[in-house]
Amino acid sequence: MARFDAQPFVRSVDNGILGPFRVPSAPGGGGRMRRMGRVVAVANQKGGVAKTTTVASLGAAFAEQGMRVLLVDLDAQACLTFSLGVDPDELELSVNDVVLGSAPATEVIMTVADGVDLLPSAIDLAGVEAHLLTRPGREFALRSALSEVVDDYQVVLLDCAPSLGVLTLAALTAAQEVIVPLQCEMLSHRGVGQLLDTIEDVRRILNERLVVMGVLPTMFDARTSHARAVLDDVGERYGLPVLEPPIPRSVRFAEAPALGASILATSSTSKGAKAYREVALGLLRAWKLGPGRRAGRRRSTA
Ligand SMILES: Nc1ncnc2c1ncn2[C@@H]1O[C@H](COP(=O)(O)OP(=O)(O)OP(=O)(O)O)[C@@H](O)[C@H]1O
Ligand SMILES: [Mg+2]
Repeated sequence: MARFDAQPFVRSVDNGILGPFRVPSAPGGGGRMRRMGRVVAVANQKGGVAKTTTVASLGAAFAEQGMRVLLVDLDAQACLTFSLGVDPDELELSVNDVVLGSAPATEVIMTVADGVDLLPSAIDLAGVEAHLLTRPGREFALRSALSEVVDDYQVVLLDCAPSLGVLTLAALTAAQEVIVPLQCEMLSHRGVGQLLDTIEDVRRILNERLVVMGVLPTMFDARTSHARAVLDDVGERYGLPVLEPPIPRSVRFAEAPALGASILATSSTSKGAKAYREVALGLLRAWKLGPGRRAGRRRSTA
């Protein structure tokens, strides 16, 4: 078992469940999605493991590197939308309308804090799940809704709700890769197996290009051997790569949403911000996406 201080960005324990770590050299899958940027779902049906924090922080870190970034809030609680300074109650249009096909994504996407674009959520997203359930091909609703804008971005991050409901399935169907934030505490492995089973089903039936990039340890307390033991256990048990470095536990994260921006803006030199920057750089290296100049179309409905 590789140790945490191993230098490579990811370490992989291939026990055959998911296969070895691989980074697709080019987005595959054909059709309208061929030329698009990276679409990455940040998913774990366990609540409060820092999915939203990871999407906001990685998004800001990618933007710092000059990437064009779109963040998609797929949670009915709209925490990502709130945390980027947008009041969901004030929105005329939201991701709901986009997923249901009643508004194009271009009309709903807004430019927000941290130099990223946001496809915001409104609180009634829960109703969207019910609507989608009656529709054939519902798992493809997000993929097809995003297809017209995905070429405008280099990275698209999907903030999934803490469930394995239809919107999470739609996110996994739209994505090329999945990152699984994991809080390193006792029993945190519970649910990972179910998530991986779901991902395997999605890969088999809906989206054969889907790859698990790995788990991202969050709220990590390096002072306890316990946190590391949990992480090693999850890595070994499921054969998952572990994204480095782990994100340290810090009160700075709780402060950021109230300030309407990610920790990269609100506490730029904190250890947490630095850790997310490193993870983002590792991902860009893995994707062979070099830092570049911000360019392309920008839109704002604000
Ligand atoms: N590294 C960290 N250290 C300390 N607190 C953190 C850290 N990362 C996130 N938090 C805090 O933990 C709480 C849960 O984070 P977050 O909302 O990102 O999780 P989530 O997985 O998106 O939750 P949900 O499942 O409800 O969508 C928030 O209050 C957030 O500020
Ligand atoms: Mg969340």
